[in-house]
Amino acid sequence: MRALVVYESSFGNTGLVAEAVWHGLADHVESAAIRRVDVAPTRLPPTVELLVVGGPTQAFGMSRPSTRSNARAEAGLPSSAPTTGVREWLHLLEPPGRPVWSATFDTRLHSPHVPGSAAVGAWRLLNRGGFELTAEAESFWVTGLKGPLREGELERAYTWGVSLSGLLLGAVRR
Ligand SMILES: Cc1cc2nc3c(=O)[nH]c(=O)nc-3n(C[C@H](O)[C@H](O)[C@H](O)COP(=O)(O)O)c2cc1C
Repeated sequence: MRALVVYESSFGNTGLVAEAVWHGLADHVESAAIRRVDVAPTRLPPTVELLVVGGPTQAFGMSRPSTRSNARAEAGLPSSAPTTGVREWLHLLEPPGRPVWSATFDTRLHSPHVPGSAAVGAWRLLNRGGFELTAEAESFWVTGLKGPLREGELERAYTWGVSLSGLLLGAVRR
């Protein structure tokens, strides 16, 4: 695979965005894959040239075990099970040791506006880990704690995925 999308989602909204981004990539890159963060590899396959990472903003940034537990309780799920989020996965992710593009996104509340973004936190960790980052972390908006996404966000996510495919074609530069 040339592109890999890794995502975390408590209520499903980030998962939908991740799929739309993946579709945008897969329509333009020979080989693109998508993995939930709990089953994503922490050593990237050698063919991966673009890594896209997304998760929900919880408590002003990337989720933590406590915020995921709160989210699971909100969703009516048992909250004690250990979970892996983007934050933990990025700490385990091995530095690529070669040029690999990366881009990050999150979902978060459009209104009321709350400061903080999981995508910015993930951007910083990837940058520190030696990845080549796209200029901006992207946010997609939900209208309530459990969603749904704002109208038009999945189309915007698809278009964003298409634009990221340009990185592999050499069409987009930081
Ligand atoms: C425990 C918790 C904390 C949250 N904190 C924030 C926050 O600080 N800022 C924000 O914009 N949204 C916050 N949200 C809303 C989430 O961003 C929203 O649930 C998420 O975008 C939904 O994505 P998902 O369906 O993939 O889990 C929070 C949600 C939960 C459950």
